[in-house]
Amino acid sequence: MSEAAKKEPMAPRAVRHSFTLTDNETGDSYELPILHGNIGPRVIDIRKLYAEAGIFTYDPGFTSTAACTSDITYIDGDAGVLLHRGYPIEELAENSDYMDVCYLLLHGDLPSPEEKSEFDENITQRTMLHEQLVRFYSGFKRSAHPMAIMVGVVGALSAFYHDSTDINDPMQRMNAANRLIAKMPTIAAYAYKYSLGQPFPYPDNKLDYASNLLRMLFSVPTEEYEVNPVIARALDKILILHADHEQNASTSTVRLAGSSGANPFACIAAGIASLWGPSHGGANEAVLNMLEEIGTKENIPQFVKRAQDPNDSFRLMGFGHRVYKNYDPRAKVMQKTCHEVLNELGTSDPLLDIAMELERLALEDSYFIDKKLYPNVDFYSGITLRAIGFPDNMFTSLFAIGRTVGWIAHWKEMMSSAESKIGRPRQLYKGEVARQFTAVANREHTSRKISWAWLWGGQSNNER
Ligand code: SDX
Repeated sequence: MSEAAKKEPMAPRAVRHSFTLTDNETGDSYELPILHGNIGPRVIDIRKLYAEAGIFTYDPGFTSTAACTSDITYIDGDAGVLLHRGYPIEELAENSDYMDVCYLLLHGDLPSPEEKSEFDENITQRTMLHEQLVRFYSGFKRSAHPMAIMVGVVGALSAFYHDSTDINDPMQRMNAANRLIAKMPTIAAYAYKYSLGQPFPYPDNKLDYASNLLRMLFSVPTEEYEVNPVIARALDKILILHADHEQNASTSTVRLAGSSGANPFACIAAGIASLWGPSHGGANEAVLNMLEEIGTKENIPQFVKRAQDPNDSFRLMGFGHRVYKNYDPRAKVMQKTCHEVLNELGTSDPLLDIAMELERLALEDSYFIDKKLYPNVDFYSGITLRAIGFPDNMFTSLFAIGRTVGWIAHWKEMMSSAESKIGRPRQLYKGEVARQFTAVANREHTSRKISWAWLWGGQSNNER
């Protein structure tokens, strides 16, 4: 990409403010520029710190580190605010559709009617999978987790679409973006159909994005399938709620993978892998498992107690957040959507009663109040998705469908920024300093603390 085409780096304002760092071990002081965003915390620009002071900063989990500049999403965790390109998530969820939000995240503004219809059509025309890629599925066990299939199939897209892997060509970047947004529902739906042993339905270009997903998931060739518009609207809203969320673990994974120049399909496959973790996108499935383990409202107090026991690994899944120290605004919309879906389907779910009672008790409990632990987006999504008909192991795949546009928007932003360079964190080294090599014949036997069998997992050599 030409240098001119890259967005100019965010040059620090004329250095009006700086942060003085004094090293009381050496007595040296360093002036570090303070950078200002349009909103949110200021940052200390430490890019020259190591060169000037020979010292690293230390921040496992990046709790206090801004890894990049971005215009896409802003979160005020204390106030429970989430903005996409300046629009509050509540307004987008209520008033727009997922394609609108995709356009907004990718291009920075809500589309005009003409832009929207062109974008929708562009996505609709790319929903099919290459027939050879469909054969990829038959290599998996039927019991394979859908996320395992999605990581494999999305990564394999780079073997099929060589006209959208040149990361330096903005046109090819846009092609890759549209292809990924278009194909994720098909890829996820086929993973579900494969687990059932049912045929893979082709996408239907007459349907909108969420309706197409429902039909590919739940239709069978032997019967007419009619999309319930209320359920389709609820699913579209759920996709909006999951579309983007600043520099979360999976988005940071995509950015780091992309910083090496990896092709966009490989980067999104990396994001899917990261999202799968139960502390991140896997939490929605974990919430249902937790609610089932709790079983009844009477059992809730003992689980709320367990969640506070530092010696108990039990956590209230769907509670707490690295950034939100107030109610996750998405959780409120998700709770409302959950009631809408259950009312439309005329069903109730005892797990919802347990979830609401758990929320009530937790929000009154001093431990959760003191640690500012509130329900997050995952707390109600599982109940909603199960009511719609998703099996539990498809919840995170749905999260991945929604989040694909966020991952791509951040990847595109990074690729067009003159600031971007290969990500390469350093470390605080605590290992051996320098040891003399000893030939194996001269090494004494020491009783290792770990058994080698544990290391090898005790697997027989005929493991399949
Ligand atoms: C998502 O980053 C994103 O934006 C993610 C996401 C997105 O859209 O991309 O919002 C999606 O991942 C939502 C989060 C889903 N995960 C869960 O619901 C899993 C349960 N939550 C926890 O694992 C935890 O809250 C995290 C992982 C979400 C956040 O953990 P942090 O920020 O690292 O905080 P922490 O683990 O250091 O917790 C701070 C304190 C600890 O106690 P102390 O060590 O201070 O005594 O709060 C406690 C924790 O023990 N704590 C909890 C808790 N979460 C934190 N205690 C009980 N139950 C919980 N859920």
